[in-house]
Amino acid sequence: MIFYFSGTGNSRWVAKQLACLLGDQTYDITTLTEIPDIKKEKQIGFVFPIYAWGAPELMESFAMKLPKTGAFSFGVCTCGEEAGMAMKQFSKRYPLDSSYSLVMPNNYIVGTDTDDEATIHAKINAARKELQKISGELLQRKKVYRVEEGSLAGLKSSLVNFGFNRFARSTKSFYATSLCNACGLCAKNCPAHTITMVNNLPSWGTRCYQCLRCINECPKQAIQYGKGTEGRRRYTIQNYLPQDEQ
Ligand SMILES: Cc1cc2nc3c(=O)[nH]c(=O)nc-3n(C[C@H](O)[C@H](O)[C@H](O)COP(=O)(O)O)c2cc1C
Ligand code: SF4
Ligand code: SF4
Repeated sequence: MIFYFSGTGNSRWVAKQLACLLGDQTYDITTLTEIPDIKKEKQIGFVFPIYAWGAPELMESFAMKLPKTGAFSFGVCTCGEEAGMAMKQFSKRYPLDSSYSLVMPNNYIVGTDTDDEATIHAKINAARKELQKISGELLQRKKVYRVEEGSLAGLKSSLVNFGFNRFARSTKSFYATSLCNACGLCAKNCPAHTITMVNNLPSWGTRCYQCLRCINECPKQAIQYGKGTEGRRRYTIQNYLPQDEQ
């Protein structure tokens, strides 16, 4: 079983590619209604994006609820650049035999502009090759730790990550502009079910994973987060995949 969480599709694509290469199945943790029975599983995988040099809290709490079995376990995080100590910290929640980071297009539009077209294509192509290598190692049950931790990893994954989870996951700065056509997609697709349509405009509740799916995937580019996101490129992997990989 490969469990995944994904905001803008990078980690979902990685999970599905791995499942295909390993002959396994994927499960989106945001749609599971109960903790799955993993007793008979031969391998357990986790795929998720890096948020502020850490694993999403949601993924960590899910993993902590899973029973620890003798199955081979692995984790693959997707990140724009570097993962810090995220995989070592995740391994304390659920022990991993193998850990990988995979550089994928950056979706953190709130902090910076997303990657340009050439970088997006280059990252996805490189990830395809790396996934072949990863799946080969996983099939051989090799124990591997291949994670791009980056500089000052300890500091970023502790202090900065703590600050992100406590103070930066607010929905207060989200708003929809007059470009919104009330299609309702953002409300339908929010994994935290925090967006509702009020008077034909999205309205944000308090619970938010900061996955940035709403802002990146609005077909009208009508969502902004404060002033910084105006004029920045939106990113979702859907625009870069062939039909059979959507
Ligand atoms: C809130 C937030 C924080 C992020 N922090 C980092 C980070 O610390 N390091 C990094 O390399 N990428 C970071 N990113 C980029 C994502 O990890 C990366 O684009 C990831 O592949 C997105 O996966 P998804 O499409 O499955 O949501 C961040 C993205 C978001 C939304
Ligand atoms: S997805 Fe965009 S256009 Fe559709 S309701 Fe939400 S903000 Fe409006
Ligand atoms: S409101 Fe939060 S959880 Fe919902 S899609 Fe937007 S960023 Fe993700």
